[in-house]
Amino acid sequence: MSDSDASALTSRALAAIGQAQTEGELGRIEVEYLGRKSGHVSRLLSNIGQLPAAEKAALGKAANETKRFIEAALAARRAELDASRLADLAETEAIDVTFPGPPLGRGHIHVLTQIRRQIETVLESLGYQVELGPEVETEWYNFEALNLTAGHPARESWDSFYFSPDLLLRAHTSPVQIRAMQSIKDPPIYIITPGRVYRRDPPEATRLPYFSQVEGLAVDNGLTVGDMKGTLLYMIQSLYGRERKVRIRPSYFPFTEPSFEFDVSCGICGGVGCKSCRHKGWLEVGGCGMVHPQVLRNGGIDPTQWNGYAWGFGIERMAMLKHDVDDIRLFYEPDLRFLEQF
Ligand code: PHE
Repeated sequence: MSDSDASALTSRALAAIGQAQTEGELGRIEVEYLGRKSGHVSRLLSNIGQLPAAEKAALGKAANETKRFIEAALAARRAELDASRLADLAETEAIDVTFPGPPLGRGHIHVLTQIRRQIETVLESLGYQVELGPEVETEWYNFEALNLTAGHPARESWDSFYFSPDLLLRAHTSPVQIRAMQSIKDPPIYIITPGRVYRRDPPEATRLPYFSQVEGLAVDNGLTVGDMKGTLLYMIQSLYGRERKVRIRPSYFPFTEPSFEFDVSCGICGGVGCKSCRHKGWLEVGGCGMVHPQVLRNGGIDPTQWNGYAWGFGIERMAMLKHDVDDIRLFYEPDLRFLEQF
């Protein structure tokens, strides 16, 4: 082999390397020229043994140079291909942080929260203040202080979840009446207490083991059933429209005397009777009554000086009446087809 053989080999290799477009092609060229057994450079050296000593050295040197040239050219081309692959990637996978994102649907307030806020707004306009109480309540506040002494048969209406004999998930918002009287102390007291309550009822179309109530309590001088009914009427008409009527029917609660259920005239038939109100013309909303003197006393208020009225109703029930929904469970299920209607 002469120098010119070596340089011819070098220029052939460099040309091939210059044209290679992929790492794969470069790999094949590398084997073709530098492969140990049958690469062109190895073959140049294959008959080195028969050469005279002086030529041996020259050939060895030329072959080494060729090898180094080719290796350098391969490395340079690899670097080039790498750089252009990265440049392509930067182009195709670039993230333009200024590009507007896909439109996100805007959420809205849950229908139960909407109704609760409406109720609060209406009653606040009459001078009522929102008072909150704990959901984990003592036996005394949930029952005893409300005249529901141990063994009282009416306790069965509030079948409750107990943590211990003295501690339970409150079964109604009425315990907040007592807490409010104790903390405010001096009448007049006008408060509403929205909040979650819990009862041992299996989930059905009309009841759930948890739901929300709004309690109202007024303690003042010489309040009458008429004041209470007028307040409920104002609230109902503000929420549902001026054409609605309210009626109260005698009932029983241990913490009010006298006690009533209050109904709202059906919005669909106007009170004549239809399928929606099961032909009654009226829809049951909640309970109410004049605060029992013993309950005032338990709240630290002198019943010879003051009297009061109170009511309690379910927010879900109000929402069902307002939107003609016939299954309470829908409010707590994540079905957007239902929830997005409101
Ligand atoms: N606490 C009663 C209930 O949960 C409702 C009520 C409240 C009745 C206030 C009268 C007065 O059913």
